[in-house]
Amino acid sequence: AAGGLVAIAFAGCGVVGPGPISTVGKVDFETPLAIPPLAESTVDADGTRVFSLDAQAGTTEFTPGQPSDTWGFNGSYLGPTLVAERGEHVRVNVANSLDEPTTVHWHGMHLPAEMDGGPHQMVAPDASWSPEWDIDQQAATLWYHPHPHGETEDHVARGLAGMFILHDEQERSLGLPSEYGVDDVPVIVQDSGFSADGEQESKQRGYAGGLGDELIVNGTRGPYLDVSDELVRLRLLNASTARTYAFAWGDARPVELIATDGGLLEASVSLDHVRLSPGERAEVLLRVTPGERVVLQSKMTPEIAGLVGPVADTNGGSDAFDVLEVRAAETLDPAPPVPAALNTIDDFDETEVAMTRNFTLDDSFEINGEAMDMGRIDETVTVDTLERWIVDNATSLPHSFHVHDVQFRIASIDGTAPPPELAGWKDTIFTEPEKEYELLMRFEDYSDPDTPYMYHCHLLWHEDQGMMGQFAVVEPGQRATITEGTHHEH
Ligand code: C2O
Ligand code: CU
Repeated sequence: AAGGLVAIAFAGCGVVGPGPISTVGKVDFETPLAIPPLAESTVDADGTRVFSLDAQAGTTEFTPGQPSDTWGFNGSYLGPTLVAERGEHVRVNVANSLDEPTTVHWHGMHLPAEMDGGPHQMVAPDASWSPEWDIDQQAATLWYHPHPHGETEDHVARGLAGMFILHDEQERSLGLPSEYGVDDVPVIVQDSGFSADGEQESKQRGYAGGLGDELIVNGTRGPYLDVSDELVRLRLLNASTARTYAFAWGDARPVELIATDGGLLEASVSLDHVRLSPGERAEVLLRVTPGERVVLQSKMTPEIAGLVGPVADTNGGSDAFDVLEVRAAETLDPAPPVPAALNTIDDFDETEVAMTRNFTLDDSFEINGEAMDMGRIDETVTVDTLERWIVDNATSLPHSFHVHDVQFRIASIDGTAPPPELAGWKDTIFTEPEKEYELLMRFEDYSDPDTPYMYHCHLLWHEDQGMMGQFAVVEPGQRATITEGTHHEH
């Protein structure tokens, strides 16, 4: 395929597209961080919590007086934050006011395939779609974004993305910062490009896809966040289409990581940096002293990307960004100590593995030598059984790997136990070049032989090129079918 040739050419010559970029020390933090509004909801007579999202086109002034054409949900850029509680039944009325089809995928959510919002659940212009499901997973920072096959990078880059926060009793009992937008703050990080006038412009393209030379957070350029609590929880979401970050504090204080994609770690972990590839989330705690200013930065290096040499256009080269300045008030509300034990995470019993599958990521943007085909089911999984997925990044460059419907555990990386920051629940992982990741997961509750879920690279251009496959979850002995195109299994 053409995509394959492009990939190989890029891999061969190393430096194509944007070179190393740094905004460190150059960002004037002059604009208060925008906080996405909480999505309004109503509760039906049967107890269903009902939200509404409308994908629409609009204009956004990233720079005052300089409107850019953007898309958003219920607004012109990004979307409201949905919040739900474990045990609730939710419905989201999704409307499409764009003039092209899109979808809304609930990234990280455990739910039936028909409600997943992948490429088989397209919403036509002026049409609507109302998925509903039970929230049956632990407190976590999830998100939502479009997933139309071949167009996902474009739809997300235009601004269609939002956060979906889940709470539960166990999390609440910890007394963590939980006042939305005050001491519990969404931090949606994207890279973008702006003209000298301040109008958003298209990004440079390299092997990873579109890479911007400036960051925006919750759609804000040069953001600062005023805080008046001594302990602040930041929910970091990498909603960039291609760029991977290594988040760290400007004064090199440790990053206190408390949660990964699927929920809380067993205990907080102190790190130099938190590496997030597109689609991944991390909850971190920041303790501030009165009046101080702390800058969140990203400092990606070849070492952090696991690259032997600098490969600038993959952003495995050296790029460094100022992200957000946190400004502490002169008087701060005290916070209770953070409990040492945050969660209990039981390991899967590996003797129960019913099926081992191998997924090889290659330089042609294919998985196991095949590009995504909407009419082909690649894997058929038996519901409620334990699976081992071995993901081999057989390329010389980073990719990520995301699986729908489940939160998984990393059992090993190149045969070694994962570091503590990767030992919790994950739905997306950064895969370093030439490394092999052993994942354990159980696809529970929902089976549907007619509707597949996806697994794919979350570098969205790669996904659009076909670095994606489909799996169906079926009852024991059942065969997967697919209604679209021809179906074959291999
Ligand atoms: Cu966040 Cu299949 O996607
Ligand atoms: Cu990729």
